[in-house]
Parts: sequence; C-alpha cells; structure tokens
Amino acid sequence: MAGRFEPKEPVQLDPPKDEIITKEYLAKCDGSHEGYPIYVAIKGTVFDVTNKRDTYGPGGSYSLVSGKDASCSLGKMSLKPEDAHSDYSALSESEMETLNNWHTFFSKRYNIMGTIETA
Ligand code: HEM
Repeated sequence: MAGRFEPKEPVQLDPPKDEIITKEYLAKCDGSHEGYPIYVAIKGTVFDVTNKRDTYGPGGSYSLVSGKDASCSLGKMSLKPEDAHSDYSALSESEMETLNNWHTFFSKRYNIMGTIETA
C-alpha cells in the first residue's frame, strides 16, 4: 500500500551503504560509548538511529534494541531482554509481518549503514 509507514515529516536519507559491520562494532553502538553512533539492526540491516538518542540511547524506551540485531524483539513486540536477539526463525506468520513492517518503518527514517557480518 503506497504511503504506509511514511514519516510525518519528510526525512532526507543518504544512499544505503553496504559495509560489513562486525557484531563487536555493533555492540559498541548502543549509545553508551562516546564517539560511537547508535545503531539498530533488523534482519541483518544496520540502521543509524543516532539522531534518536532519547529513544534508543541509555535510559530510552527502546534502548534494549540498540547495539544489536533485535529482530526477535521487534517481531514479537517484546521488551523482554531474552527476546533481544537476531534469531527470527521461531516467529509466527503475523510476527514475521510485524518484523517486516518494522524494517520498512526504519528504512523510511534511518540511514542504512550496511549489514552485519554473517560468520
Ligand atoms: C505499552 C506499550 C507501548 C506503547 C504505549 C508504545 C508507544 C509508542 C509511541 C507513542 C511511539 C512513537 C510513534 C511515533 O513516532 O509516531 C512508539 C514508537 C516505537 N515503538 Fe512503541 N510502544 C509500546 C510498546 C512497544 C514495544 C513492546 C516495542 C518493541 C520493541 C516497541 C517498539 C517501538 C519502536 C521501535 C518505535 C519506533 C521509534 C522510532 O524510531 O521512531 N514499542 N511506541
């Protein structure tokens, strides 16, 4: 459906980058390490959410999902620490749709910095 998940204010995004981002680097990008950006990864795609420090940085409502791939959290709409991981293989069909919708939501708001290393 055209227009779904569009931000209220237009967002000027950079062309997506295709860097390979290590899990070690990603882990530093949770807002608690000075000099590092804040990243959230969904299904391996890494988004730069640094401009939403209040939300994703330390003490923010969704700080649990930053500095990692938290696909399971987003698919299940869960803020339980045990769900904050990248394995989405056990999600139901509707949770998978929720996860894909979050990917779309982030793609319309945040710059893509690359993908997480798979090894
Ligand atoms: C009582 C439950 C919840 C309430 C009242 C709530 C409320 C909200 C509100 C008001 C927004 C802002 C929407 C906007 O910018 O237009 C938001 C965004 C968001 N919510 Fe929730 N939420 C809840 C639960 C959750 C849960 C369980 C998750 C799972 C991870 C979640 C993830 C998110 C994310 C990722 C955003 C997008 C933030 C952004 O980057 O703009 N929320 N929520």
